[in-house]
Amino acid sequence: MEPHIVFRDVTVTYGTKMALQNVTLEIPRNRIFGIIGPSNSGKTTLLKCINRMIDFVPGVRVQGQVRIENEDVFRTRNVFALRRRIGMVFPLPVGLPLSVYDNVAYAPRMAGLTDPGELDGLVETCLRHAALWDEVKDRLRQLGTKLSGGQQQRLTIARALSHRPEILCLDEFSIAVDPVTTMKIEDVLLDLKQKMTIVVVTNLVQQARRLADQIAFLNSSRLVEVGPSDVIFSEHPASQVTFDYVRGHFG
Ligand SMILES: Nc1ncnc2c1ncn2[C@@H]1O[C@H](COP(=O)(O)OP(=O)(O)OP(=O)(O)O)[C@@H](O)[C@H]1O
Ligand SMILES: [Mg+2]
Repeated sequence: MEPHIVFRDVTVTYGTKMALQNVTLEIPRNRIFGIIGPSNSGKTTLLKCINRMIDFVPGVRVQGQVRIENEDVFRTRNVFALRRRIGMVFPLPVGLPLSVYDNVAYAPRMAGLTDPGELDGLVETCLRHAALWDEVKDRLRQLGTKLSGGQQQRLTIARALSHRPEILCLDEFSIAVDPVTTMKIEDVLLDLKQKMTIVVVTNLVQQARRLADQIAFLNSSRLVEVGPSDVIFSEHPASQVTFDYVRGHFG
């Protein structure tokens, strides 16, 4: 099967700081792709190339090519259309100061969806996909920011799903949520991969092991190796550095 996302010789520099160096990798469709590596290894930078959020960093320079299917990400004519294909979830929930309902309905409304019945249906579907519906269905008009931290993170996921992305990217989604919520979100992701490609950055190697079909290991802004999860966690990954990292010997 054709890969969904391709990085070809991608180098990213922030001013004089090199954050990614000559990274080449392929992200398969409808799988969970894990990105692991120590702090400052370039994980978030890699993720931000997919929807060109990297553009917002002053002084950034990107070389090489990122492709989503036939679209050349850094040469596309329509960045907004590109970004709509991708949902992003950050380490800390970023709730809009709106009701639970409006948090999810915001993007579809901006895209022109006005039919109340359709909006209701979409909001419910997204909240169900984020494993949050049962907890909030009786308080959809309450402020989203009044929910617990774990609920707000799932609300962020529901919002990321609301424009029906084909790719969902998550950057350390469980850093500020309790273990029960973490497990709920992991189940959500395992379920969602039937419908979309998921890219998960995590500092927790065991989380990558539980979730990911394929894993890329970054160290010092370079891709050390990429491969199926069971190879990365085996006795014989391609690199000794990978072996040491996944066993917690550094990082
Ligand atoms: N806006 C920025 N300006 C300058 N340097 C940056 C910027 N963002 C990141 N960097 C640097 O680029 C390198 C890679 O950062 P990145 O955030 O991609 O790493 P990371 O693997 O996500 O780290 P962490 O696990 O701590 O989130 C680091 O050395 C970081 O200090
Ligand atoms: Mg990061």
